[in-house]
Amino acid sequence: MTDSSHEGVHHAWWKEAAVYQIYPASFKDSNGDGIGDIPGINSKLDYIKSLGVDIVWICPCYKSPKVDMGYDVSDYKDIDEQYGTMADIDKLIDGLHARGMKLVMDMVINHTSDQHEWFKSAVSSKDSPYRDYYIWKKPKISETGEKCPPNNWLSAFSGSVWEYDEKSGEYYFHLFAKEQPDLNWENPKVRQEVYDIIRFWLNKGVDGFRMDAINFISKEQSYPDAPISDPSSKYQNGAMYYASGPRLHEYLSEIGQILNQYNAFSVGEMAHVFDPNEIIKVVGFTRNELNMIFQFELTDIDMGPAGKFSPKAWTPTQFRNIANKWQVFMQENDGWNALFLENHDSGRSVSRFVKHRPEFRSVAAKMLATFIGLQSGTIFIYQGEELGLANMPKSWQISRYKDLETLNYYRQLLHDVASQDALDIAMGEFQKKARDHARLPFQWDSSPFAGFSTVQPWIDVNDDYREWNAALQVNDPLSVFNYWRSILDLRQTYKDVLVYGKFELVATTHEDVCAYERSFGSQVALVVASFSDSTVNWTVPLNFLKPGKWMLSNYADGSPLQPEMVLRPYEAFMYLLSN
Ligand code: NOJ
Repeated sequence: MTDSSHEGVHHAWWKEAAVYQIYPASFKDSNGDGIGDIPGINSKLDYIKSLGVDIVWICPCYKSPKVDMGYDVSDYKDIDEQYGTMADIDKLIDGLHARGMKLVMDMVINHTSDQHEWFKSAVSSKDSPYRDYYIWKKPKISETGEKCPPNNWLSAFSGSVWEYDEKSGEYYFHLFAKEQPDLNWENPKVRQEVYDIIRFWLNKGVDGFRMDAINFISKEQSYPDAPISDPSSKYQNGAMYYASGPRLHEYLSEIGQILNQYNAFSVGEMAHVFDPNEIIKVVGFTRNELNMIFQFELTDIDMGPAGKFSPKAWTPTQFRNIANKWQVFMQENDGWNALFLENHDSGRSVSRFVKHRPEFRSVAAKMLATFIGLQSGTIFIYQGEELGLANMPKSWQISRYKDLETLNYYRQLLHDVASQDALDIAMGEFQKKARDHARLPFQWDSSPFAGFSTVQPWIDVNDDYREWNAALQVNDPLSVFNYWRSILDLRQTYKDVLVYGKFELVATTHEDVCAYERSFGSQVALVVASFSDSTVNWTVPLNFLKPGKWMLSNYADGSPLQPEMVLRPYEAFMYLLSN
């Protein structure tokens, strides 16, 4: 790990980087089969470079039956033919490197596909050398003598985490779909196999990994029943027994050692963990586990107690307070944040975190970019976020949704003969948070199928592609795209203050305004973002009323700082004080 200390903050190349996330099936189709592919990505590297990012993270494109769109890997050392070939990946690595960018692959090692050779062998016989690569348990016998799952844990995609295998009379464990059996990390052979896969890709020239569901790899070995948190369900959230299990840090240190040898980038997905003390063990600078993690307290703000599709009201004040909590915590504890509002697992930020006001869509997208993009941390942009792409229209029926998370949830409601009210609530939540929204085809231009493909794509193109697409935005200085470019540019130009500088929330009495200060030595930047769709009065704290430079504004005519400001709907800006 290359580092040096700077005003108490460790320097590292990955802290200065901006990451662009690509969902291969939905980015660009090169061969006219309606599905995005790696040659498609290769044809768009100049576009990606022009945004000003440093790293590209691609979601899984390994061999897979794609029950969960590639997060069910059947061969970690091969590319799925739907996406291309190894030669295409080599071209991607070379193409990115030639342009001064890096490639981060998605590493899905909590589970495999049930079509992986290891699982096929494991399920074929109890004596298979691969049986212990997975987690098997005998049934629990109920009072009435029935065979039941070993415990009551709920899987991420509805139903039990246990699937019964008739042949052996045992259950196997799967936190996600039943076609995604969890690997048994307690088995040292499994760990060696996984480390070998990691080395394989690093040796190929990949620059690091996004580690899928990585905090789930160590489970409480007694697999106790989870407490009842949702009395209406047979299965309960067992995250407390697997989200930060007893051997997690031991395993992450082993991974960290390999990554360090290659100076590789790492970001781990860490859902269901909200205890900062657990998180800092993973991302503390001197811990050598992972560089940073995605924790979801901010983006889960609209998720109720019964899970992703249960509703929850929230306020911008809560939003800014959560952001503040993690900013302050990481800077006080030598950790590092991964900053994001979007990914492939949820709705679009302009359709979730601001009100639906089409006339303000562009300023609102820029406001969200300002809010997240100038905080302390490594910034992640999900494909299309740089254009302000939105969710599918509310008029689209359930038949146009494709994702198993959405459909399993819906089917479960139908199976439970849920009331019309419950179905309507679920539909309302799908419209905000379903994974399908982020997976709609990328909107390149206003030609048929948005320039994504020459044929009807695997999932419908959003209705708004003629007005919202890359071709319209790249040369428009006032576009969301060029606004994001400015943010990334500012982060590079004012690295001291915007990458390494201190974060401090500016006290605001207005509940819809989020204002924060970044400072480094005598340099101070003020960042303001209004989450209101109407005008709000905001009193500028006296210490900012100094001469300075207007660096960024989401309205063409950014008004200069003055003691009493009237912020326009979703107005956002950054002001650099010259001290
Ligand atoms: C998290 C990924 O982001 C999601 O898309 C996937 O379904 C699960 N992990 C299971 O791999």
